[in-house]
Amino acid sequence: MHDGQGYDATPFLPGRRARLPGLRKAAAECHGCPLYQDATQTVFGEGDADARVLLLGEQPGDQEDRQGRPFVGPAGRVLDRALSDAGIDPGRAYVTNAVKHFKFTIPEGRKRRMHKAPNLREMTACRPWLVAELSVVSPEVVVALGATAGKALLGPRFRVAEQRGTLLPWPGLDGGDEGIGGLVATIHPSAVLRADDREAVYDGLVADLRVVADVLGDGDGRGRSGVAAR
Ligand code: URA
Ligand code: SF4
Repeated sequence: MHDGQGYDATPFLPGRRARLPGLRKAAAECHGCPLYQDATQTVFGEGDADARVLLLGEQPGDQEDRQGRPFVGPAGRVLDRALSDAGIDPGRAYVTNAVKHFKFTIPEGRKRRMHKAPNLREMTACRPWLVAELSVVSPEVVVALGATAGKALLGPRFRVAEQRGTLLPWPGLDGGDEGIGGLVATIHPSAVLRADDREAVYDGLVADLRVVADVLGDGDGRGRSGVAAR
């Protein structure tokens, strides 16, 4: 789109010194890939700019698209409850998505917009926004919620079932993320809502988030595992 090869948000990013409000404002105008065309608005990340934990989802859902805020729909309610149950204050986290616009289809004869997973080109296009957020927030731990988030950080070979619930080394993105201590992957909270055995799936989510709580430790800024103490 911009480099002749593919989609890319880079031309829409403000200068490297931009803080979250400047990033959010610029992202509202992003045309880095075609997803802005059908969505209502950009849904930028939200939360504590000094958060010790950054939670990464896939893309805004229907409610998020309407309200312009991440994780305010049903999946967000599951996430907030699971964070609290794991001992992490949702109000002190930063939440964002791998892709900042809602991608959907409307099945024939239906009115409801159905979520559609973003493809690699769209994820790659949107990545500069995530890199900028990671650089500003500089969390100790990043939590990848589901397959798309995991792939956005660890590449296409990522598998939730195999890599969830343990502290993984930070893969290192495109600079500005040197202080990040590690990554914990888990399921997407919407998987709880789709599951037959909701309780078991929910408990698994909470167990994975407890690993995060453990890394954050007792608030000494380093965490019990010492992983962020580099
Ligand atoms: N699902 C996501 O991945 N992100 C949101 O913001 C909402 C639902
Ligand atoms: Fe820009 Fe990302 Fe939206 Fe595509 S999805 S238009 S790259 S903000």
